[in-house]
Amino acid sequence: MALTAAAVVLSAAGCAREGGGSTPDAEDGGVVHVVCGATEEWCAATTAQFSKTTGVKADFVRLSSGEALARIKAGRGNAEFDVWYGGPADGFAAGGAENLLTAYVSPNAGAIPARYKDPTGIWTGVYVGALGFCSNPKLLAEAGVAVPDSWADLLDPKLAKDIGIAHPSTSGTSYTALWTQVVLAGGNEDKALEYMRKLHPNVLQYTKSGAAPAQMTARGEVAVGIIFSHDCVAAKEAGFPDLTVTFPAEGTGYETGGVALVSGAKNPVSAKKFVDWALTVEAQEVGPTVKSYQFPTHPDAKVSDKVVDLSTITMVEYDAVEAGEAKTALNRRFDGEVAQAPKS
Ligand code: G6P
Repeated sequence: MALTAAAVVLSAAGCAREGGGSTPDAEDGGVVHVVCGATEEWCAATTAQFSKTTGVKADFVRLSSGEALARIKAGRGNAEFDVWYGGPADGFAAGGAENLLTAYVSPNAGAIPARYKDPTGIWTGVYVGALGFCSNPKLLAEAGVAVPDSWADLLDPKLAKDIGIAHPSTSGTSYTALWTQVVLAGGNEDKALEYMRKLHPNVLQYTKSGAAPAQMTARGEVAVGIIFSHDCVAAKEAGFPDLTVTFPAEGTGYETGGVALVSGAKNPVSAKKFVDWALTVEAQEVGPTVKSYQFPTHPDAKVSDKVVDLSTITMVEYDAVEAGEAKTALNRRFDGEVAQAPKS
């Protein structure tokens, strides 16, 4: 009865799924509770495939990076989640610095190139995504503006209230954009915030989740969304083929989507199984089945032809650990000096 009630609550919340079945190990319920930062569809497909392959039950809650970190922190001492999967690694680095995550070097981590994993084992990369601009050509034409291909282009007054971007306190996507400005400014946070202040009059709304501006651009609410480029490709596929993906010539930031063990996980054996599995070729080929076109970190995973060829774009030196260390304080400054985080 209790289990049924719990399952009903989970499905009523619309953000968690269960699947599979297994014999619980000692000190482990044979289930893994995942806080998932990838798209809802990818989180669902991944947890389902994990359960199918391993027989371990899995459920998830989809949260943006900053929200995931806050929820993990709120659960300190009574962990709600066992694993954090998906979302930019700087959030994981910030969590590691507060001992909210526990180092785990999976036996499968050896296959993942060193540049895609934390040297201390706090997080391991499962995908890579490049930040870009997602444009609605019709709206740009109406505004008399060419498709932007530089950060400077976005400051055009003709784009007043015509840009969508998330808030960096909640969204890992937006924090990637903010940290990219820091890198482009040679590490000068004042200059980075100055750029964001100049951009501010052109921002219609700071959304909670990073991918939300893709929908805003598709629906014609804004002319340009600053998002991970693969989220624009997904929106094109979902019925908005005219959307145009471009990258800033000055250089763009990128994310390494991470996976990590939550400190004090109540299902540590299943959690490790999940991390191990997330690093396999099988797991890394799930994304494209649900229109998620990030670049896989496993060198043997098939790369969809819809994934952007990272060698064709200029990328900044994005150090996720450094970005993670700066995250809390820099977001606080963004809140005070540029715009407050969305309330709901
Ligand atoms: C989308 C992207 C992911 C990214 C995530 C970050 O789901 O497809 O690649 O990791 O956004 O989410 P957030 O809401 O924190 O910006």
